[in-house]
Amino acid sequence: MENAFIIKGGNKLKGSIKLSGAKNAALKIIIAALMFKNKVTIKNVPRIKDVEELIHLLTTLGAEVDFHDRHTLEIDGKGLKSNKVDLLHASKIRVSFMLFAPLLHKFSTCYVPNPGGCRIGARPIDRIIDGMKSLGIRIEYDSDTGFYYAQVKSKIQGYYKYPKVTHTGTELLIMLSVLGDDKVILDNTALEPEIDDLIRFLNLAGARIKQLGKKITILPVKELKQKDAFEINSDRNEAVTYASIATASKGEIMLSPIQPEILKTFTAKMKQIGAEVENIGKSLIRFGYAGPLKASSVQTSPHPGFMTDWQPCWAILMTQAKGESVIHERVFENRFSYVTELRKLGADIDFVKIPVKNPAEYFFFNFSPDKKYHQAIRIRGPQDLHGGVLNVADLRAGATLATAALIADGESVINGASIIERGYENFVEKVRSLGGEIKKL
Ligand code: EPZ
Repeated sequence: MENAFIIKGGNKLKGSIKLSGAKNAALKIIIAALMFKNKVTIKNVPRIKDVEELIHLLTTLGAEVDFHDRHTLEIDGKGLKSNKVDLLHASKIRVSFMLFAPLLHKFSTCYVPNPGGCRIGARPIDRIIDGMKSLGIRIEYDSDTGFYYAQVKSKIQGYYKYPKVTHTGTELLIMLSVLGDDKVILDNTALEPEIDDLIRFLNLAGARIKQLGKKITILPVKELKQKDAFEINSDRNEAVTYASIATASKGEIMLSPIQPEILKTFTAKMKQIGAEVENIGKSLIRFGYAGPLKASSVQTSPHPGFMTDWQPCWAILMTQAKGESVIHERVFENRFSYVTELRKLGADIDFVKIPVKNPAEYFFFNFSPDKKYHQAIRIRGPQDLHGGVLNVADLRAGATLATAALIADGESVINGASIIERGYENFVEKVRSLGGEIKKL
């Protein structure tokens, strides 16, 4: 059995972790860099599988993308020679659909596969396609080949209001508009901090993007030129994962660099359940176990709410908390793949139905009345967990199963280690540095 972690649980995990660059910022900034006139240098790029896959895809399209040192990437999009993203690569890296932006700017036409669904739901891009059409892009879908054909028909300009927020959807239309032909106004945009990083990256290169609440105005510029190397901010999802690992194992952890502001919803909940949280200076946070945890329910929502990416970690913490808690997932339609796995370790978790007055409004995915959804779980704790053989379905669920194994009594096997390594740099080394007993087969 390869591609598995063997974990022996039960240690109190303590120590300090230097966070890696944010996956969900790096991937888009690397794609946007292809639109620059000159070579682009990006620092603090995480060495994770998703980044490696994206780099491989960009080089097959003719771009030059190389690591200058361990975490500094140099990108030159001048050599782009193909306007067609192949199916195999697109199936390996979901954000490949964002290549609409650089390919349309370079070739005015492009072929991009439908990213399709994945383990956490159907994940259509209907809002994005509608947005592109509103901005003057002709786009057709060939259901036989699974490809979109897009063409800049006339000018890229106009107004688009997202029917519901979309994180990558906001980022893609920003990228498409910066080198457009006239003003673009995007309304009801997403607010994730990674979008701020993308806007900062583009504006430092001469773009004219203004964000006011959920409205973004973009005035077109002729070219984008990088002046100084750009540094990716650290990964808040990684921070939440390690804070959960330390607290659930009754240990403590120092995380840096991380701005407390972007984690404030999470840290507020951690304080609510009785964990210790201390902001030290501008970019260091200490999380620690300070006695029995109290159960507390969450419902997920886009930033600045409780992130959907954090709810799998929250589930583990709630198995160790006294009382009953409910997690209500509003953003994705299938984000509880870890539940059946945690039950194998003895967790007391049930799917529950929570009546929702207007589900089409309440959920952030495209709700369909004739579909069956499992959007809420109830957890009873505290529950001692024991080892088992677990299977990873998606990235954040994988980190949750690793956390469960680290606090369970005995040894566990986690199949699908590579899925965890898609989004967590040096996962084994970092867990070992906290005193975790983990090895990769
Ligand atoms: C981004 O996904 C992140 N991925 C996700 O992180 C994150 O959970 C999510 O934003 C929310 O912050 C990256 O940035 C690479 P959405 P994204 O578009 O942009 C539906 C991780 O683990 N929708 O905001 O795909 C969609 O299906 C990943 O790092 C449509 O129906 O999220 C989802 O249910 C997981 N039509 C909801 O909206 C559309 O056109 C929110 O999706 C677009 C989205």
